[in-house]
Amino acid sequence: MNKSLSGKTILLGVSGGIAAYKSATLCSRLVGLGAIVRVMMTEGATRFITPLTLQTLTRYPVATDVFDEKDASIVQHIDWADSADLAVIAPATANLLSKLANGLADDMISTTLLATTAPLLIAPAMNVHMWEHPAVIDNVNKLASRGATFVEPGTGQLACGYVGKGRLAEPDEIVEAIVAMLVGPKPLSGKRVLVTAGGTVERIDPVRYITNDSSGKMGFAIAEAARDRGAEVTLICGKTEANVPHGVNLVKVDSASQMHDAVMERLPGTDIVVKAAAVADYRPVHQATQKIKKTDDKMSLELVRNPDILLAVGEWKNAQPNKDKPLVIGFAAETNDVEKHAMDKLNRKKCDLIVANNVAETGAGFGTDTNIVSIYGPRGLIENVPQMTKRAVAEKLLDIAQSTLSLQQAQGDGKGPGR
Ligand code: PMT
Repeated sequence: MNKSLSGKTILLGVSGGIAAYKSATLCSRLVGLGAIVRVMMTEGATRFITPLTLQTLTRYPVATDVFDEKDASIVQHIDWADSADLAVIAPATANLLSKLANGLADDMISTTLLATTAPLLIAPAMNVHMWEHPAVIDNVNKLASRGATFVEPGTGQLACGYVGKGRLAEPDEIVEAIVAMLVGPKPLSGKRVLVTAGGTVERIDPVRYITNDSSGKMGFAIAEAARDRGAEVTLICGKTEANVPHGVNLVKVDSASQMHDAVMERLPGTDIVVKAAAVADYRPVHQATQKIKKTDDKMSLELVRNPDILLAVGEWKNAQPNKDKPLVIGFAAETNDVEKHAMDKLNRKKCDLIVANNVAETGAGFGTDTNIVSIYGPRGLIENVPQMTKRAVAEKLLDIAQSTLSLQQAQGDGKGPGR
């Protein structure tokens, strides 16, 4: 992708969190790419980093006060709003998100953003509990539904002492998102991606069920990465306690059978299917409608096989003409002989790619924020991906999926790399 931002004007709003110091690197990178960067700061932001720092890096005066009109021939916030090719907020605090979601205009940033028609990119940063607060989730969803693009916070050690999600994305990641928005096109524009995530729930009675440890994080990371690459994403989600991504079509399910139906009915028109959910292989034969009372010392639960959704998707794909075949990506959660089992699943379930994670390794698999995976095609290993965040794994996977799709299109024969 051409990374030059020459001739582009970026309005950068910096709000008052410790991550405000990272805006200096962001300014420097954007100016280095040729952009004109006009910085606006909240009063709080000026307590963390001085306007002079950002003025020196951008060679433009920094606006901190909407009433501080230095040039009588213009109304500054309208002039800046009109000049922008893109408005970026980094970092965006919970307070600023709330103002933007609710249309407040009581300082330079919120007033200018209300006046601009430029697209908006928001990189939030805050304490993990603030990020997970229903009020913040509502505000993020409201802004996303109006078309704002988010660079999600990263997970790790937060300045407040907590470990969790809330850290401002690295400046390079924000720059990538800015370049994608301004210089695009996005690589998955016009594509439909279906992702499954989380664990299924197989009811025994109204208060008991069989499930697994899937948090949904791996599937969510894939859904977010596909969304940010321009795809229309449908996320079919089982049990999860993680924050569900915004800006995707969310379908909530419980059991494997429900997930099966939800997936199968959405296959026509889908370009990529990613089965990251952990699906129960069995369910109780009988689901009691009332709580089962204890009787004997022992009790047996009779189980019956669930539908194999990935296999059904693979078989459906093979029955379609080449032009309508989606790229099918399975996951394999293994504890031993990873390659052997993964290749067996890929062949048996008729997938194009399979992502194997050794769930016995620390930092991989269920519940973690990171994963360690190996990605295979029909001809064997494509890439070993060392420990990295689930989002970074998702990006690697989509890179491979995209090149497989484009090779399929070029060859027109349904065959891609390593296949
Ligand atoms: O959700 P996280 O906490 O982030 O954890 C991520 C993960 C470990 C759940 C994920 O990375 C993962 O490995 N998902 C697949 C888990 C699994 O069910 O593996 P499996 O080897 O049992 O199944 C292989 C494939 O068949 C999977 O794509 C699975 O979705 C699919 N399957 C399995 C059984 C079934 N009845 N239907 C299916 O579609």
